[in-house]
Amino acid sequence: MDDLVAAARAARLKAHAPYSKFLVGAAVRDERGRVFGGCNVENAAYPQGWCAETSAIAALVMAGGRKITEVAVVGDGLVTPCGGCRQKIREFASPDVKIHVCGEDGAIRRSFTLDELLPFSFGPEHLR
Ligand code: THU
Repeated sequence: MDDLVAAARAARLKAHAPYSKFLVGAAVRDERGRVFGGCNVENAAYPQGWCAETSAIAALVMAGGRKITEVAVVGDGLVTPCGGCRQKIREFASPDVKIHVCGEDGAIRRSFTLDELLPFSFGPEHLR
């Protein structure tokens, strides 16, 4: 998973976070093993900003990916995905997908499954 964490670290350095000054990077791996990074992008109209995980998912989808098989988040402290991003990951990931929460140095602080972070979740299969 070194490539995943490296992509998340590199993405973090591109964050646009002038308001919180809290830089976050994320990376997702798709069903073909490809890795996509993303950073948080804040906005002067604060609620319009979005998270690093959201950017990474958008990059995966734009490249034709439709499954998330692994996730890494890099930030200061234990930066677990927010509720909205957990649901966005859920759209493309199975419950056992690992979400690695890493420090700025890339060291994994904790790894969770999606199901641990978003139990009893609602997903696409509910609509089929
Ligand atoms: N943030 C992320 O990008 N990902 C997370 O998992 C948690 C929070 C961002 C959103 C905002 O730009 C900043 O961190 C402070 O909340």
